[in-house]
Amino acid sequence: MTTKNAPTTIHYFSGNQAFAKELCKATDWPGFLIETHQFPDGESLIRVHPKPGRKAFVLCSLDNPNEKIFETLCAADALRRAGAKRVGLIVPYLAYLRQDKVFHEGEPISQRVIAKVLGESFDEVVTLEAHLHRIRKLSEVFPCKAVSISAAPAIAQWVRKNVPKALLVGPDEESEPWIRAISRLSNLPYVVGQKTRVGDRRVRISFPDAIEETTAIIVDDIASSGVTIAVAAKALAKCGVDEIHCAIVHPIFERGALRRIQSAGVVELVSGNTIVHGSNAMSMSGLIA
Ligand code: R5P
Repeated sequence: MTTKNAPTTIHYFSGNQAFAKELCKATDWPGFLIETHQFPDGESLIRVHPKPGRKAFVLCSLDNPNEKIFETLCAADALRRAGAKRVGLIVPYLAYLRQDKVFHEGEPISQRVIAKVLGESFDEVVTLEAHLHRIRKLSEVFPCKAVSISAAPAIAQWVRKNVPKALLVGPDEESEPWIRAISRLSNLPYVVGQKTRVGDRRVRISFPDAIEETTAIIVDDIASSGVTIAVAAKALAKCGVDEIHCAIVHPIFERGALRRIQSAGVVELVSGNTIVHGSNAMSMSGLIA
């Protein structure tokens, strides 16, 4: 297909190639790789396909956000200069949403900053399972159209197929509405823990009720240090659960996270393909398409 016949095009960075392939297939829109060049001083130069559609989407997941945000903004600029009339951003994982208030004096609200920067460059932003705690919708902070699509259907589908008799576990109270949605779609019971974070790699989690089920699936939107999952798994084991699985949407694992999770007794860990990782088992491109 040539761009002449394509009113809409997708322009993706190399790290998002597999996701782009699925998305292009599902939408029937052509996809083009964004070339990147790194100068010796660390600056980068990107180059988009010279003939984008009237409507063009940049596809970029923001794991390693400090490296990727600038290139993403440059891609929007390049597409407009090349003739796109509307430029959207498909960002399977959208970073910097957890800092949604000033927790300690002198800090920024990073969520507002990222919303402003992206919202000024793009006409619309589409993401998946954005970490929203103190706001309900991205449109409350983005100056452009912005939507977060729920990953609940993809998780429920995986659960139904792979661990059909288990207790769904949300590690913290914030996850309650989401776990409830997965519970409704999978017909499984759920419990939500009470979590207190005391440091980047230190959390406390307790579960309120006695747990009868012996198989559980911890479900979370993000795993980074893996501490939340590990601590939740240990707490569940103390409650008598002897088979613990884990499904997360965005695997932004730091080094050592998987070992931490495995040593806590988790027998299976799967993730969404919003970020390329060995644990990817749930495709999220259909939901975005
Ligand atoms: C926090 O509210 C999120 O939902 C995750 O639970 C958290 O970001 C996981 O981080 P970590 O893996 O470092 O414990």
